[in-house]
Amino acid sequence: MKSAVVLGGKTGLLGQALCMALSRRGWTVNAPGRDELDLFERPAVEEYLARTEAAVVFNTVAYTKVDQAEDEPAEASRLNRQLPLVLGKAVRNAGVALVHYSTDFVFNGRKTSPYAPGDQPAPGSVYGQTKLQGERELLALDLPSLLIIRTSWLFGPCKTNFVTRILELAATRPELSVVHDQIGSPSYTPDLAAGSLALLDKGATGIFHLANAGQASWCELATEAVRGADLACRIKPIPSSEYPQKACRPAYSVLDLSAFTAVTGIAPRPWLQALREFLFSREDCLS
Ligand SMILES: NC(=O)c1ccc[n+]([C@@H]2O[C@H](COP(=O)([O-])OP(=O)(O)OC[C@H]3O[C@@H](n4cnc5c(N)ncnc54)[C@H](OP(=O)(O)O)[C@@H]3O)[C@@H](O)[C@H]2O)c1
Repeated sequence: MKSAVVLGGKTGLLGQALCMALSRRGWTVNAPGRDELDLFERPAVEEYLARTEAAVVFNTVAYTKVDQAEDEPAEASRLNRQLPLVLGKAVRNAGVALVHYSTDFVFNGRKTSPYAPGDQPAPGSVYGQTKLQGERELLALDLPSLLIIRTSWLFGPCKTNFVTRILELAATRPELSVVHDQIGSPSYTPDLAAGSLALLDKGATGIFHLANAGQASWCELATEAVRGADLACRIKPIPSSEYPQKACRPAYSVLDLSAFTAVTGIAPRPWLQALREFLFSREDCLS
């Protein structure tokens, strides 16, 4: 039986979806929490990988609070830059494959057509900068089996996310204002997990973009979530200028998925279809 380690798999939004996808495929999955393994202690990580006989490590651990990162750049850098470097060295020593996740926020959003993996990154936030540094630290190690998956706008079961927050608010309010001038690629975590395993199956290495197909503004995503859940709340489109946030976000960060499709033969389904599945099935969590 194949064995995997999913960092962030105990409590993370994507990590939990990966654990479920791997378990369903018959993998042995270990997801050590903060209290079980200090990820910055490379010898301890190497020992853990050997003990669990891991063939692959999925790293979903990151500093993901985009606005707070502007005030805590050192902590964001520790998790988004330094941790991948420690993990990269550990997997190299242990002879284990690494799947690492990054973000559409490495781009500045000035393009008007989907971003391909080879497009020039130019992050406008501490979060985006530190995630890009993490990618570069890993690539510089020249690992034999490194897969970096950039994704965006996650929603799914097991943890609060944009869609679940909108549904909670919409249940008690007649109207919600949501920005309409940031456009991106919503990603359903079970689809992202399945796509990650498809890339792994093909032995893919390097940087790939993976999300659901299509594009949306936050306002469109909120509108469809509220409509799908049959809630009587009006979603009012507003410009970003009316919803100031500390970190600068790309106005446009739609991801080009063609490299993923070329390697796996899979065309990701549209985000709206995935959203409806999420709303109607509300997939169970492991714990
Ligand atoms: N969410 C999005 O919309 C989005 C968009 C684009 C890219 N991504 C990328 O996708 C990946 C997964 O994101 P996500 O939203 O699933 O993340 P998440 O839900 O915020 O989960 C992060 C995980 O990291 C763990 N963690 C944080 N600090 C830690 C530390 N010091 N030591 C050990 N564990 C620590 C958390 O554990 P605790 O629960 O114990 O804190 C949690 O399990 C990340 O690389 C992120 O950059 C996410």
